[in-house]
Amino acid sequence: MSQSDRLTVLCLASVEKGHEFIQECSRQGCRVLLLTLERIKDRAWPRDSIDEMFLMPNFDDLQGLIHTVSYLARSHQIDRIVPMDDYDVDRAAALREHLRCPGMGDSTVRYFRDKLAMRVQARDEGLGVPEFVAVLNYDRIREFMARVPPPWMLKPRMEAAALGIKKIDDAQELWRVLDGLGDRQSYFLLEEYVPGGVYHVDAISFKKEVLFAEPHRYGAPPFDVVQKGGLFNSRTLRRDSEEARELFELHAGVMRALRFVHGVTHSEFIKSEKNGKFYFLETAARVAGAFLANLVEASTGVNLWREWAKVEIAGNSGEYSLPPRRHDFGALIISLARQEWPDTSAYADPEIVQRIRKEHHAGLVLASPSKERIDHLLGEYGRRFAEEFLMTLPPRQTRMT
Ligand SMILES: Nc1ncnc2c1ncn2[C@@H]1O[C@H](COP(=O)(O)OP(=O)(O)O)[C@@H](O)[C@H]1O
Ligand SMILES: [Mg+2]
Repeated sequence: MSQSDRLTVLCLASVEKGHEFIQECSRQGCRVLLLTLERIKDRAWPRDSIDEMFLMPNFDDLQGLIHTVSYLARSHQIDRIVPMDDYDVDRAAALREHLRCPGMGDSTVRYFRDKLAMRVQARDEGLGVPEFVAVLNYDRIREFMARVPPPWMLKPRMEAAALGIKKIDDAQELWRVLDGLGDRQSYFLLEEYVPGGVYHVDAISFKKEVLFAEPHRYGAPPFDVVQKGGLFNSRTLRRDSEEARELFELHAGVMRALRFVHGVTHSEFIKSEKNGKFYFLETAARVAGAFLANLVEASTGVNLWREWAKVEIAGNSGEYSLPPRRHDFGALIISLARQEWPDTSAYADPEIVQRIRKEHHAGLVLASPSKERIDHLLGEYGRRFAEEFLMTLPPRQTRMT
């Protein structure tokens, strides 16, 4: 391939992420440009796979970002712009719009970044969502509080990580919190608290079709883990179960409703304890965080980052097909650990496919053809982790999912 035939992919990364995406683009013969931040320039980027690296102090100033990338475009034919992190998703869309690059533009991306936008659109297309109201008109908020019994969740429209989310018990508390938020309040939405289990579907779509969707259930709901501490875990569901079938259908409905074309997604659902129905919670146009992608790879052999690279390269006009895959069952268990570098060597079952190395964290990724075996190990490891490693801190400032 001559230099000019090579597809040029610009990766936007405001955090150190996406190594496998970058490597796959390079393996597929693309030129890879990495635009990242000065303060993370010395991280362990896969430099052999990066043709040129560009740095900015931050991506906050959209105008500045557009100017920088337009300047790069004078000497590079940029064919694809791909965000590595959730915070880069809308930046990438704005840049695509400006450079007229293929891929999701501003209006589609909005559905994947703004929890209010995804809610309104999913509801308008007839999908089950928790009752909600925008934090805009006070009459509407009063009407909502009169109609929907508390508690309610007040959540930022754009943030991930269950961080800025607050559980609200009564109207007085809400008005007090809104008062404190002042002009920032319109960046929140208020919704019904639906008690129940939280599920996630991690998927690959191409040409508006969902080609791969893996159903999982978290142990304790992520909100409870972030707020109260405790073990974070998730496991693959039986793919032929009634629950999985309902999830697949709702998930496909969400992708259709939000006009998703191609890429990877991480979507979450709650199954109401009260009526057994699934509700759409949120979705994101990116690979799942918190090592959930490792769980998917352990259970299926599919690496979401690498497949995403192939899907982006194929784009609107190329071809993509899913590689052969397994249908094993996976699980992930992670705990904040008292020890700086906890030793998990006493856990030696052959189902352990990965040990997570992260300061003050103990974590294992498991896989087995047997769901019973995975359930058994998760139960046993959960008890042992609680004794040997678990540390509980006040709510953390890190991203969960
Ligand atoms: N309406 C709700 N009812 C019950 N729990 C909720 C609701 N919304 C959020 N949660 C809890 O908060 C967590 C984070 O909420 P989510 O909307 O997924 O935002 P984030 O982007 O922070 O992950 C969920 O995984 C769930 O545990
Ligand atoms: Mg979430």
